[in-house]
Amino acid sequence: MIEEIKKLVEEAMELIEKAQSLDELAAVDLEYSGKKGKLTALLKTLGLLAPDERKIVGQACNNAKNTVSESIDKKRSYFNDQAIARELDVPSFDPTLPSIPPGTTTGSYHPVSVVQASVERVFEQMGFKILDYYEAESDWFNFEGLNIPKDHPARDMQDTFWMKSGNLLRTHTSPGQLRSMKEFEPPFRAIFPGRVFRYERTDASHEHTFHQVEGIMIDKNLSVSNLIAIMKILLEAIFEREVTIRLRPGYFPFVEPGFELDIQCMTCGGGGCPVCKHSGWVELLPCGLIHPNVIRAGGLDPTQWNGWAFGLGLTRLAMMKYKINHITHFMSGDLRFLSQFKAGGAK
Ligand code: DAH
Repeated sequence: MIEEIKKLVEEAMELIEKAQSLDELAAVDLEYSGKKGKLTALLKTLGLLAPDERKIVGQACNNAKNTVSESIDKKRSYFNDQAIARELDVPSFDPTLPSIPPGTTTGSYHPVSVVQASVERVFEQMGFKILDYYEAESDWFNFEGLNIPKDHPARDMQDTFWMKSGNLLRTHTSPGQLRSMKEFEPPFRAIFPGRVFRYERTDASHEHTFHQVEGIMIDKNLSVSNLIAIMKILLEAIFEREVTIRLRPGYFPFVEPGFELDIQCMTCGGGGCPVCKHSGWVELLPCGLIHPNVIRAGGLDPTQWNGWAFGLGLTRLAMMKYKINHITHFMSGDLRFLSQFKAGGAK
């Protein structure tokens, strides 16, 4: 029996010696000292021996296990030391190298953020609150309360991402009209910029995720000319030049009357290109006087209060301002695109 133990130890030592990796060591450990290992198996047969022999063999067996474990541990730390040494063996930091020029590693604003900031500045100066509302909305705030009941065809134009709860990712920033009317005492004026979502096929000017800014003014006896005056101030401040606009009647269930305010395409100057779908005009600013049903849904009395609202496509505005010909650039994460808009904003 003692001979057998010696043989097993020798065998194990040879394998440990030859082992080239931690995995191979673990295998040796298992084969000799593990639960089903060869030395463990011997220990289990001790009961068959005479009592005095049992003591000697038992001790020899335990010693053998210890010897094997110690060798395995030693080799294991040898492997670990080697791994650490390999890691440390990379060229070290050289403090004499010149530093990275300032500015090369700083981030830049996303073009939509640049445009959003400039819109916010214009409205701030005119006393508008800047509000942040939810990207996930209820059906009521996104549709129903905005005069778009369940069976209304306008819903087809704005399919979106629905949650199992029946809530949805907002298709526009217009739910803010209802939320702000519920939140503030009239008269008030506010804008709410943010991300919106549509179940949309991607082309040069359509994406499933984009940005809008909604504006609202609630007071007594507001008129379409108030609305147009503010829209002109906005566009001229944003583009820092005169822009050619046109106003067409437009239908949106939450405004009456409703308009489409178009601007002449700045990518092609009106000649026609993919951005303006070869029409020379880009729909930029749908707007109108808020429908009495919506004023009521917002908790106000439409015989006392009225207001106007607009919804501006911030993404589209950025495309116009910077002559970006494809909307997918915005979410591409391509630094060659993004780094053109440095802090402070590209002009
Ligand atoms: N919510 C509309 C959309 O995303 C845009 C809109 C139209 C907003 C007219 C308005 C408005 O405030 O008056 O298509």
